[in-house]
Amino acid sequence: MIGVLDSGIGGVSVLREIIKLIPGGHFIYYSDSLHNPYGDKSSDEVYGFVKKIVTYFLERGVVAIVIACNTASAVCVKKLREEYPDVLFIAIEPAYKMVHDYNPKGETLVMATKGTIESEKFLALYHKYDNNKTTLIPCSGLADLVEEGNMEKIDQYLGKHLNKYKGVSNVVLGCTHYPLIKDNIRKILGNVNFFDGSVGVSKELFRQLNLRKIDYTNDKLKIEFIDSSENSFKEERFNILLFQ
Ligand code: DGL
Repeated sequence: MIGVLDSGIGGVSVLREIIKLIPGGHFIYYSDSLHNPYGDKSSDEVYGFVKKIVTYFLERGVVAIVIACNTASAVCVKKLREEYPDVLFIAIEPAYKMVHDYNPKGETLVMATKGTIESEKFLALYHKYDNNKTTLIPCSGLADLVEEGNMEKIDQYLGKHLNKYKGVSNVVLGCTHYPLIKDNIRKILGNVNFFDGSVGVSKELFRQLNLRKIDYTNDKLKIEFIDSSENSFKEERFNILLFQ
């Protein structure tokens, strides 16, 4: 069993990629919608929420935990690895290095939560690969709108916040909710290059499981969905997005 967590259903953008590499896996997906958004909360609060999920996953006997939330990764993973040295944590981060590798000369936007953008972990990555043509945009409230799934409100939000960046070539989707609204972002910014960490994190999970010879196989795909607010709408949306 592999645990995958996010503050909501955004982590489905990561699970989709994981399933391509591990099509017969058994996954427990934990959506913490009772406590989201994580992006506007303090690091201590987010750590408390994530620790509860980790405890639950360990009780269930997972062999690895994927933090499919950039905010939680940014503010928690270092501490989690110290506190649980025997647990395999695979953590996503904004794919800013990919810009450096693939299109470093392009005007770049990094869209992420406030928590991620202000975190020490992200700022270290940003300063390491800064191309001097990058704007960081804390998108407060956007993950909530994606949770809700109201496309009209999403378009309004993006129109208001992204209009002035028309002409950029790279957009880093630094929150796992944002790959779900690529089409909406294209409506404002046109045909930009998107960068997100979901493929990288899936490959790293696959690599680590094999390297450590951890048995993660199952006869067929099994996904258990848990939502901390027990909202059945979340599960419906999650299933639609998972197989989209
Ligand atoms: N999906 C989460 C991320 O990747 C955060 C959304 C939230 O603010 O809860 O950052």
